[in-house]
Amino acid sequence: MKKDLREPSPDGVEPDTLDPSDWQNLRAQGHQMLDDMLDYLERIRERPVWQPIPPDVRTLFQEPLPRQPADISDVHASFMRDILPYAVGNAHPGFMGWVHGGGTPVGMLAEMLAAGLNANLGGRDQMPVEVERQVLRWVRELFDFPADASGLFVTGSSMANMIAVLVARTSALGGGVRKAGVASCGSRLTAYASAAAHGCIARAMDLSGLGTDALRIIPVDAAFRMDVDALERTIAADRSDGMMPFLVVGTAGTVDTGAIDNLSVLADIAAKEQIWFHVDGAYGALAMLAPDFVLRLQGMQRADSIAFDFHKWGQVPYDAGFILVRDGAIHLDTFSSPAAYMKRESRGMAAGSPWPCDFGPDLSRGFRALKAWFTIKVYGTEKLGEVIAHTCELARYMEQRIGQEAELELLAPVSLNVVCFRYRCANADQVNADIVVALQESGIAAPSSTTISGKFAIRAAIVNHRTRRENIDALIRTTLALGKARIGTLHKQTS
Ligand SMILES: Cc1ncc(COP(=O)(O)O)c(C=O)c1O
Repeated sequence: MKKDLREPSPDGVEPDTLDPSDWQNLRAQGHQMLDDMLDYLERIRERPVWQPIPPDVRTLFQEPLPRQPADISDVHASFMRDILPYAVGNAHPGFMGWVHGGGTPVGMLAEMLAAGLNANLGGRDQMPVEVERQVLRWVRELFDFPADASGLFVTGSSMANMIAVLVARTSALGGGVRKAGVASCGSRLTAYASAAAHGCIARAMDLSGLGTDALRIIPVDAAFRMDVDALERTIAADRSDGMMPFLVVGTAGTVDTGAIDNLSVLADIAAKEQIWFHVDGAYGALAMLAPDFVLRLQGMQRADSIAFDFHKWGQVPYDAGFILVRDGAIHLDTFSSPAAYMKRESRGMAAGSPWPCDFGPDLSRGFRALKAWFTIKVYGTEKLGEVIAHTCELARYMEQRIGQEAELELLAPVSLNVVCFRYRCANADQVNADIVVALQESGIAAPSSTTISGKFAIRAAIVNHRTRRENIDALIRTTLALGKARIGTLHKQTS
C-alpha cells in the first residue's frame, strides 16, 4: 500500500518535507552536538593524537543502503563513538604530519552558519558572493596585487595550481586554445619547477593535457631551493629545441623541507623570458602575515599568480584553498563559458557578473569564504601572523633539541616550520620508518615521513596553533625511547 505523505511519522520528520516535526527536539539535539564538538576541542590535549581504527568499527560501515529513517540522536551517538575518535587528529597539538592545519572553534561555528544558509556561490547577486569578494580584496592587499586581480576559493592548492597552469596556458596561446586545443599551436609548451616542488604541479600538467614530460624538473641547491642557473640553461635548451617555455613555478615553502625558492630571481627570469611566473605558496605564502618572514618571500608580489591554502597556516577548517591571478581578464578568458541558462542581467538575481563560476571549473560552490572571513575578522591578521611565527619558533626549538641529542641527526636546514631528522643507527631507514609508525600508534605525537637526499626522514611540520614546546619535547623523548627499544630488539634478533 502506498504511504500517505501527510500521515504524522514516528521518526520526528514532517510528513511532507525533511524538516523536523518537533523543532524543539531538534534544537536540543543540535545544542548537544555543538556542546560535544566544543568539548572535543576544549579537551583535545587529553586525547591521543590518533588511534588505529578497530576492525569491528570499520565493519560497522559496511551496512546496506538505509531505506528506513533512524533517530538523529542514534546517528549522532554513532558519530561520537565510531567516527570522532578515529579521525586523523590534525586538530591535536601533537599532530605534525604532512601539512595539516588545526582549525579553530570560530571556523567550526562559521561552517555551521554556512551549512544552514546552504548558499551556492557559483554566482548570482547575493551577499555570500560579496563576502568572497571581500576576502579577495584582503588577499590582494596582503600580496600587494592590483585592484583588477582576480581570485577564487577552491578545494586546495592542488586545484589552485591546476587553475594557474590553465591560465598560464591561455596567456601563452590566447583564448582560442580552449577550442583548438594545445596541439594546435605546433610547438610543445614547457613548464619549469624544482625537484622539491609538490607533486600536484606534475598532476596539473597531466590533467591539463600538457603532459608531465613537459614539466622540466630543475635540480635544487644544498638549501633545497631551485638552482636558478640550471633553470636558465634548461629554458635556453628548450627554446633552441623548438619548445615554447610558458610557465615557471616557484615554491614558497616546499613540502619536504619548507625551503623558499629565490622568488625575486625567478621573477626576473620569468620577466626576461616573458613567461608566466606562478608561486605555489600552499602553506608558505601566508607567512606574509608574519612581519619577520616578509623579506624571505620577496619576489612573490611580482608573481602572475599565487596558490595558497587558508586551511593550512591560516587555521581555517578544511577545505579552503585559494588562487590569486594578477590579470583578471586572462583568468576570466580561461574559464568563462556563456550558456543560455546562465544568462546575466543588470538587475534581479542574475546580476553581478562576472560570477565566481567564471573563474574556475566549478559551477556549484559552497560558502568556503565565510569561515575564512570569520577567522580573519575574529582573530585579526596580527594574531594569525603571530601563530605562524610561533610555529617557526617551535621548529627552531626542535632543531636545537635535536642538536642536543647525540642519537639524533638533522637531515635538512630548518627554513620555516618543517623539521626533518632521524635516529642515528645501523639500518637507519628501516628503524626510522618503524619509529614513525610507532610514534603515530603511541598517540603522543604524529609526524609523517619523507626521503631527504636518499635518506628516510622523520618529518615534523608544525602547523597547528595549539602546538607547544611540551609537544616538541614529547616527540623528541618518545623518538629516543622508541629508537633505543628498536635497537635493543634488533640486537636480540641478531644475537
Ligand atoms: C607546497 C605544496 N603545494 C601543494 C600542496 C597541495 O595542497 P592541497 O593539499 O591543499 O591540495 C601542498 C600540500 O601539502 C604543498 O605543501
